[in-house]
Amino acid sequence: MNSVTSMLLSLVPASGHIVTTSDCYWRTRQFMQQFLPKMNIGVTVIKPNDLEALEAALNAQKVTLFFSESPTNPYLRCVDIAAITKACHAKGAIVCIDSTFATPINSRALSFGADLVLHSATKYLAGHNDVLAGALAGKKELVEQVRTFHHIMGGVVDPHAAYLLMRGIKTLDLRVERHNASGIEIAKRLEKHPKIDRVWYPGLESHPDHSIAKGQMSGYGGVVSFEVKGDLWAAAKFIDSVKIPYIAPSLGGVESLIEMPAVQSYWAFGPEKRAQIGIKENLIRFSIGVEHVEDVWADLAQALEQVP
Ligand SMILES: *Cc1c(COP(=O)(O)O)cnc(C)c1O
Ligand SMILES: *[C@@H]1O[C@H](CO)[C@@H](O)[C@H](O)[C@H]1NC(C)=O
Repeated sequence: MNSVTSMLLSLVPASGHIVTTSDCYWRTRQFMQQFLPKMNIGVTVIKPNDLEALEAALNAQKVTLFFSESPTNPYLRCVDIAAITKACHAKGAIVCIDSTFATPINSRALSFGADLVLHSATKYLAGHNDVLAGALAGKKELVEQVRTFHHIMGGVVDPHAAYLLMRGIKTLDLRVERHNASGIEIAKRLEKHPKIDRVWYPGLESHPDHSIAKGQMSGYGGVVSFEVKGDLWAAAKFIDSVKIPYIAPSLGGVESLIEMPAVQSYWAFGPEKRAQIGIKENLIRFSIGVEHVEDVWADLAQALEQVP
C-alpha cells in the first residue's frame, strides 16, 4: 500500500485528477476516494475496458494519471494496456498498472506502453505469505520523483523482510509455472462442476477479457474466483469444509489461501452496498499454492459435496 500511496501522492498534484477501474483492491480505492479529495484530487471510476468512458474522462478534465490493476481483484478483469496507454498518452496522462496478480513473468505492462508498473511484493514476488513489501518500476524520471517522496515518508522494508523477498524471488519462475498450470486446470474443472455457478479466470474462454488477456499475458496465474451455487451460506459451508487452503485474505504464496470477499473484505458494507459495487455474496477467491493439483482438486471436490 505504501507503493500505491507514495506513487499517487508524489505524482498527482493538488487538484489533479485520476481515472481508475471499478473492480480493485479495496484499500487503493479507499485511499483515492476518501483521502485524496482532501487535496482536491478527483477520481473517475470507469468499467475495465470502457474506452469510451476513458475518452470522456480524458476530455472532461486534465487527467494526471490512469491507474488500474490487471488482472483486477477479485474478478480478474484485464485491461487492454496498449489501447489505454494510447488514449492516455494522447492527453498527457501517466499510466500505472498494478500487475500484482500477473507477476512480472505473466505480464509485462511496461512493454505494452505503461509508464509505471506496481506490485504488492507481499504476494507472488515474496511468495511465502510471510513478508509485506511493495515495488514500483518504470520510467526513470517518474520513479525518481516517487523515490524522493518515499524517503520523506519513510515507508521502508526492513532488512529481514528484504532478505526474505530476495530469497523468494529466486524461485519466482518455478512457482509461477506451477501456479499457471494448476490455475487453468482447477478453473476448467470448477467450470464443469454442477455446484458452481460461474468461474472467473482470464485463461477461460468464458471470461469477459479472455482475448485481451491472451494478447498480453503468457500465463494466467494462480488466483481463481468462482461463485458457489446458492447464497452466502452455501459459499460459507464450502469454505468451512476445505482442508488444504488456509482461510485468509492474501494471495500468491506457496500455501493455498481461500476467502470470501463478502465476508472478509466487504462485510462492513452490508448486502446492498456489496451488490452496488458488484461483490457477489457467493463469491470465493481462491489463491492456489504449489501443492499437487490433484490434492487441491480432491479437497475442493469434497468440500463442494458438503454444499447443500
Ligand atoms: C495485496 C494487494 C495490494 C496491497 O499490498 P500490501 O502488500 O498488502 O500492502 C495492492 N494491490 C493488489 C492488487 C493487491 O493484491
Ligand atoms: C506459466 O509460467 C511460466 C513461468 O515459469 C511461463 O513461462 C509460461 O509461459 C506460463 N504460461 C503457461 C500457460 O503455462
